[in-house]
Amino acid sequence: MCGIVGYVGKEDSAPILIDGLRRLEYRGYDSAGLAVHDGERIQVVRAVGKLRELEKAVGAAPLPGSLGIGHTRWATHGRPSEINAHPHVAGKVAVIHNGIIENHMPLRERLEKGGSEIVSDTDTEIVAHLIDEQLRKGGDLLASVRGALAQVEGAYAIAVTSQDEPDRLVVAKSASPLVLGLGEGENFCGSDIPALLPYTKRVIVLEDGQLAVLTRETVEISTLEGAPVEAEVRTIDWSPMMAEKAGYKHFMLKEIFEQPRAIEDTLRGRLDREHGDITGAELGLADEHVPGIERVYLVACGTSHHAAMAGRYYFESLTGLPTSVELASELRARDPVIGPGDLVIAISQSGETLDTLMAAKLAKEKGARVLAIANVMGSAIPRMADGELYTRAGPEIGVASTKCFTAQLAALLMLAVYLGRRRGRLSPERTAELVEAMARLSHQMRDVLQGTRQLVMNLARRHVDARDVLFLGRGLNFPIALEGALKLKEISYVHAEGYASGEMKHGPIALIDSAVPVVVLVPQDECRDKSMGNLQEAKARGGRIIAIATESDDEVHQLSDDVVEIPAAGSELTPFLTVLPLQLYAYYVADFKGTDVDQPRNLAKTVTVE
Ligand code: AGP
Repeated sequence: MCGIVGYVGKEDSAPILIDGLRRLEYRGYDSAGLAVHDGERIQVVRAVGKLRELEKAVGAAPLPGSLGIGHTRWATHGRPSEINAHPHVAGKVAVIHNGIIENHMPLRERLEKGGSEIVSDTDTEIVAHLIDEQLRKGGDLLASVRGALAQVEGAYAIAVTSQDEPDRLVVAKSASPLVLGLGEGENFCGSDIPALLPYTKRVIVLEDGQLAVLTRETVEISTLEGAPVEAEVRTIDWSPMMAEKAGYKHFMLKEIFEQPRAIEDTLRGRLDREHGDITGAELGLADEHVPGIERVYLVACGTSHHAAMAGRYYFESLTGLPTSVELASELRARDPVIGPGDLVIAISQSGETLDTLMAAKLAKEKGARVLAIANVMGSAIPRMADGELYTRAGPEIGVASTKCFTAQLAALLMLAVYLGRRRGRLSPERTAELVEAMARLSHQMRDVLQGTRQLVMNLARRHVDARDVLFLGRGLNFPIALEGALKLKEISYVHAEGYASGEMKHGPIALIDSAVPVVVLVPQDECRDKSMGNLQEAKARGGRIIAIATESDDEVHQLSDDVVEIPAAGSELTPFLTVLPLQLYAYYVADFKGTDVDQPRNLAKTVTVE
C-alpha cells in the first residue's frame, strides 16, 4: 500500500505534491519521491525514510515546474532504498505506482533480453520500461500507457509524465484506488481523498480499467480499450480528520474494514488458480528447501502468536510435519531443542518485536532455517532471516492488530498448502480446492463485515457494562477465541478470557453466571458438534450466549441468546470469518466506553524491549 499524488496547474507543483504525500503518509512511509516537469525536462528527487527526508532533499535541490507526480512508498518488491523509491524513470517517462504487478518477472526477463537496463528490484520500474518501449514505437503517452497496461497483470494505480508532453499527466487504475480532483485551471490525482481536500472538494473516483488524461483545463476519462467515459463528479464534505481515516471514526475500524483488500494483496501473484497450486514466488522458501524440513516451529508474540497457533493446525494437517508453537519470550527462557532440519517461522507484524527477533536469532545460531513473516519490508526480523514472506496489509496504525492478523493467517495457510503439496500430503485436487477457497475468501470477508456490523454494534451496546466476557473456541477457532479476548482486553479494558471450549468444564465454568456474556465459536467444521455440547453447558449455568455460527444452523439459534452468522466455508477458512465479528465487538464496546481505541493505555504498537 503506497500513496500517489499528481498535479497539473499554474502553481509550483513540488509543495502541493509534498503536502498531498503528507496526508497519505499513513499508506506508507519508507521512502518517497517526486518527478516534476519544468516545461523542458523532468527532474526527479527521491529519499529514503519519512517524508521530511524528501523535503530536505527538495530544499537542497529545488524542483521548479507546475506539473508533477509524487509517491510515498510501502515496500512490496525490493527493500526500502533510494534506488527502489518511486518515481521510476525509463527513457523519457517517469512513473509512480501503488499496487502489485503479478507478472513482473517474465516481463523483466523479456525487457532485459531486449536491452532494457532495469536498475531497481521493483515491479514498478517494469511498467516504466513497458511505456518507454511503446513510446519508442511512435505512440503518444496515452497510447503508450494503454499498450503497456495491456501486458500487465495485477493491481495498479499509476501516474505517468513524459518529457515530450509537458502539459499532460496520464493516470490509470485497476484494483488499487485512484481519485481525481477537479480545480480551476488545475487538476489533481491521489490515492485517497485526503490528499486532494485542501485544494478541491470536487472529485471523480476512477473505476477499474479506466485511464484519465489530466491537463490544466480538462480531465478526459476512457476505458483501457479506448471508449470514452462520462464519470460522476462528487462533492466531498469530510473534515480533514475524517478524511485521513477515510470517513471511519478510528484507524482500527478502518483497518478492520480493509481486511478483504489486505487478503487480496497478500494472496496476489501467489495463488496459481490456473494450475490449482501456490506459486513458489515470494514465499521465502523454494522447492529445494522442502526435502530438508523435518519439523516446524512457529514463534511470535501477542496477536501474531494467535496466528501462529492457527498456523500449527494448518501445518500439522496439511503438511504432516511435527509443528510447535512458541511464545518468543518463553523460547529463550528455555534451552530449546532446535537445530538443522528445523524450519523456524518468526511471525511479526512490525518485524521489530525484540522477543521475536531474539528468538529467531537463537534458532539461527542453533542451525535452523529461519523464515520471517512480516508486514514491514526491510524490518529487523526479515533482515536477519534466511527467507522472508511479506504480508501486504499496508501500514497498521491502530495499536490493536486486526488486518495484519488475517494477513498472517493467509500467509501461513499459503505456506502450509505449498509445503503440503510438495511433500505429497495434499493431492492436486485438494490443493486446487484450497486455492479456490482462498480466492473466494475476500468476498466472504466483505459480506461478513457488511452483514454483521449493525448486529454486533447492538450486541456491544447491550453488553457494554459486562465486567467479564468469555470466548470459547475449539480446534482452529481456539486461537480465534484467544484473539477475541485479547482484542477486548486491549482496547476496552474489560476482563476477557479465551478458552478451548473443552477445557471450560475443567475450571473456568465456575466463572459463568447471568452477568457473563459467553461468546462461543461454533462454525460448521469437525469440532462443531462437540462445541455445541460446551455451548449447552454454558447456557445451563445461566451464561448469556452469543454464538458465531454458520448461517442457517437452527440448533445454534435455538440454544443461543444471539447468533452472528458467517457464510459456509471450508474448515481452514472459518478463522478468517469468525474473527471479524470479534474484532467489531471489541471495537464497539471500546467506542461506547469512550476509550482511546487507536492508542490504548499502556500499550505500544511495536515492542522493542524484552
Ligand atoms: C496486538 O493487538 C498487540 N498490540 C500485540 O499483541 C502484538 O501483536 C505483539 O506485540 C506482537 O507484535 P508484532 O506482530 O509486531 O511482532
